[in-house]
Amino acid sequence: MILDCDPGHDDAIAIMLAVADPAIDLLAVTTVAGNVTLENTTRNALRVLDMVGRPDIPVASGRDRPRVRDLSTAAVMHGESGLAGPLPVEPSRPALDAPAIDVIEQILIDADEPVTLVATGPLTNMADVVERLRHLHSRIRELVIMGGAVDLGNWTPAAEFNIWVDPHAADIVFRKARVPGQGSPADGIALTMIGLEVTHRAWLTDEHADLLRSTGRTGQFVAELLDHFVGFHQDRFGWEGGPIHDAVTIAHLIDPTLVAALPMNVQIETESPLCIGRTVADRWSVTGLPANAAVGLDIDRDRFVTLLMERVSSLP
Ligand code: RIB
Ligand code: CA
Repeated sequence: MILDCDPGHDDAIAIMLAVADPAIDLLAVTTVAGNVTLENTTRNALRVLDMVGRPDIPVASGRDRPRVRDLSTAAVMHGESGLAGPLPVEPSRPALDAPAIDVIEQILIDADEPVTLVATGPLTNMADVVERLRHLHSRIRELVIMGGAVDLGNWTPAAEFNIWVDPHAADIVFRKARVPGQGSPADGIALTMIGLEVTHRAWLTDEHADLLRSTGRTGQFVAELLDHFVGFHQDRFGWEGGPIHDAVTIAHLIDPTLVAALPMNVQIETESPLCIGRTVADRWSVTGLPANAAVGLDIDRDRFVTLLMERVSSLP
């Protein structure tokens, strides 16, 4: 697996879950500008991998801004650093010099079996995979993204943050996508969209933070992430907990029975000032357009939380 992300509290927990699961071979972490600047998302990815004792996993930074729009971050939620909460610590090593797209290309060339891509930030780097690595699409098992929503957005009334930041990249990805298990790589990359209907049920609370706090270095770190992230969502949205959006992509790969998904056609709004970044999901097949993604609609919340808590507690 390659995880492309913009850490970010929930991206950080997604990285930890990928590292913690024995069935996942995390070949590289690539970074993109989104929650915070590329410099900070890259530093955070390096820092999280140090925290979980995996400084051997390569980190490569990708695009530092969306394809067309100016970069708008979510520093209000994640802090300027992107990991508000725990005391800042400098990474033990730099990211690779090579850009993310080159590192992804080399991994796909060298892989002895198809590689799963996971994207938990804006799709800026994934659009490069679609456009610049066409010759290697057959080496991609599938792309699982955290992004979009069938119903309401979370950054505007119409759009979810990751898609809203770079709707033009998302449009490139969704136009060259197919339902997993259907068609062939020539038709596009198999795509699973884990959107807000699913991730808004994947929340953790202060109690989870307290349970993790005494489980060691990593548990303490996650507890401090949650102290900030849960607190933000309680204050801003009045919710009981903070949704660990990005970790659901990894949990879905670990246990595909957790998320219920349906094939449907999804198009991306790239023009409307009011609705730019909306994933227009044809839930009731009214367009007659072919499905191009498996779209998550629900999650077994209790089993997700149990899996996440168990795996994070197993880290150093
Ligand atoms: O809308 C939630 C998404 O935006 C998550 O990936 C979170 O990390 C932010 O990037
Ligand atoms: Ca993210």
